[in-house]
Amino acid sequence: MINTREEWGTRLGFMLAAAGSAIGLGNIWRFPFVAGEGGGAAFVLIYLGFVLLIGLPLMIGEIAIGRKGRANAMDSYRAIRPEQPWHVTGLLGIVSNFMILCFYSVVAGWTLYYFILAATGRLLTSTKSNYGEAFGSFISHPFAPVIWQSLLMIIVSLIVAKGVKQGIERWNNILMPVLFVLLLVLAVRSLTLSGGGEGLAFFLRPDFSSVTSTVVLAALGQAFFSLSLATGLYVTYGSYCRTNTHIPANAGGIVFLDVLVAVIAGLIIFPAVFHFGIDPGRGPDLVFVTFPAIFSNMPLGGLFAALFFFCVFLAALTSAISLLEVVVAYVHERWALRRVTATWLAGLVVLLVGLPCALSFGPWADATLLDRTVFDWFDFLAASVLLPFAGLLLALFLGWGWKPEQVKAEVEQEGVRFQVFPLWRMLIRYVIPVALVIIFLQSIGLI
Ligand code: PFF
Repeated sequence: MINTREEWGTRLGFMLAAAGSAIGLGNIWRFPFVAGEGGGAAFVLIYLGFVLLIGLPLMIGEIAIGRKGRANAMDSYRAIRPEQPWHVTGLLGIVSNFMILCFYSVVAGWTLYYFILAATGRLLTSTKSNYGEAFGSFISHPFAPVIWQSLLMIIVSLIVAKGVKQGIERWNNILMPVLFVLLLVLAVRSLTLSGGGEGLAFFLRPDFSSVTSTVVLAALGQAFFSLSLATGLYVTYGSYCRTNTHIPANAGGIVFLDVLVAVIAGLIIFPAVFHFGIDPGRGPDLVFVTFPAIFSNMPLGGLFAALFFFCVFLAALTSAISLLEVVVAYVHERWALRRVTATWLAGLVVLLVGLPCALSFGPWADATLLDRTVFDWFDFLAASVLLPFAGLLLALFLGWGWKPEQVKAEVEQEGVRFQVFPLWRMLIRYVIPVALVIIFLQSIGLI
């Protein structure tokens, strides 16, 4: 799909495919735990601010680059400005995708394992009393998480190698709405738990006294990660858009759906966290401990658990596929390898480099640098450093390299109007670059 300049079949095709990549573990697994670590509501507000003021404008621009360049993540930049090295933005995106997949595959492997546990009725019965302990002993096992990670990478590689977009997209379109309905049911369940109000207050009532530059950087990283922004994904998917696609409206739709799923996940997690006396800042295992606790407490919990983990697994799978796809497209073209060879090669390298991430919760738990494990470093470097940095280059390209008026001309075709253009121009040229530079300098302690 990367190499043929097809066009999206239906009006919604682009938005649904992009939302399929954006909605994933970032919303259901990562958002609750980084929000919990960041102190709750204040983090959420900062995150929402970044999504609207930085994420949405950049997404509009990224899609426009793809549609204008009609090529992959790097070559679209080259097509627009062949004489200048802006394509490094695309290269940074490809490197980030690779790094994200290294740890993403670990967590996606955990969801696959939890689905199997739930489906075989072992999740809620055998580990009834202490879900934290059960999960802890699974992820610290010397090889079990590696096996699930490998299995996950094999599934992802099989799908990407075949280029079978059809099947997975169809499933995606069915199961995403199922996931959505499930999340709503769970939100109602969680909000009616006793003590839930306290969790709701934690999630919705901001206390800015706990906000540090680390929290601000984490919120920025979460915005980029969750939206799959500055990764080249929107350039690639945008290159399949027709000229009558309303880019700003589509970007708005993608952002809305992505935020909605994250917020609902928060509405489920935090009331339950307080009801069950779980520490909201406990880290990456938060949802794996909280969700089973919710299920064990509700009628038909076993069935809901199996369905839920299946949907989360699928949401993770579609995002993992988009992550590998961007890397494979590059390897395939750069070294003129067959698509199948490129896929298995990339998949294997991701797995090898990603193994230490899986071991970070067990045998390699003590291998830390500045308090971060290998897993934490991959996550931090990709989400909080590389993506925002690629975002800065993206803003500079749109605002000063390609020029806002040209972007406007690309967006405004066949009667489409870019109504918020003056605001967009100001954000892209001045506000976003300055904000990103300030956040960077602050996070490394220079200001
Ligand atoms: N946005 C995805 C999520 O929230 O799970 C993760 C992701 C997918 C990040 C694809 C980057 C990417 F290119």
